[in-house]
Amino acid sequence: MRPSTLITNIPPGLHVAIIMDGNGRWAVARGLPRAAGHRRGAETVRTIVEASPDLGIRTLTLYAFSSDNWRRPEREVRALMRLFRTYLRAETKRLLANGVRLTVIGRRDRLEIPVRSAIEAAEAATADGTTLHLRLAIDYSSRDAIAAAATLAAGSAGGPLTAQSLSAALGGADAADAPAPDVDLLIRTGGERRLSDFLLWECAYAELWFSDIMWPAFSAADLAGAVADFHSRERRFGGLVAQPVEAPAARAV
Ligand code: IPE
Ligand code: IPE
Ligand code: MG
Repeated sequence: MRPSTLITNIPPGLHVAIIMDGNGRWAVARGLPRAAGHRRGAETVRTIVEASPDLGIRTLTLYAFSSDNWRRPEREVRALMRLFRTYLRAETKRLLANGVRLTVIGRRDRLEIPVRSAIEAAEAATADGTTLHLRLAIDYSSRDAIAAAATLAAGSAGGPLTAQSLSAALGGADAADAPAPDVDLLIRTGGERRLSDFLLWECAYAELWFSDIMWPAFSAADLAGAVADFHSRERRFGGLVAQPVEAPAARAV
């Protein structure tokens, strides 16, 4: 991966979030077990992570396992957990070499110890990465994250809860995660047009991009297409076209 500093004509600093959907259908359509789709999906993760910095992406949040995904058959859950472990162990060197900082958002207390250890090791090894902040959402529920952040913010504020304090608490609720900016572009692959409890607060003004492509088949060119479309959009944040287009500071609630 080339350092993004070599690219001069792309505005840096985008936060792109992706709901990586369609692994199972991709596999079944090819007569393969669903787990094969998840494995191919992990290869897509590598491609997309490596393509991101040159597209001006500085924060990339990937939905890998929702808190509702525990409802899936035990066998599939086990395969996914094994995959997270092997991905984290196998990719750490590569992430490190590419200057990627990896953190994981979501609950950890329900993960098996080997998965938790692999997360902690990858986070520690990549902590100094500055090219890209990769956030993997594992056992993640946005509603649970907002509830936890509200509890945290209310406990430390000593005053009324504000959108600003809640935003700050969302970033810092998990000690291992660094505060992340609001999402600029939300992508969902796999044809569904819903959020499935992902980054509900952080997507308040996100541009939405839905693709019918299944995640294992999603390419760097597809990501570039989504980012190009993002740049063609007019972001008004509730203001008017002639006004400067800056994201609003969080209002008091
Ligand atoms: C997304 O692909 C990956 C996870 C939810 C873990 P799916 O497994 O949801 O694939 P489809 O939607 O069934 O095709
Ligand atoms: C969302 O996909 C979760 C991930 C991509 C990790 P799902 O396949 O679980 O979502 P629904 O069930 O279609 O809403
Ligand atoms: Mg799905």
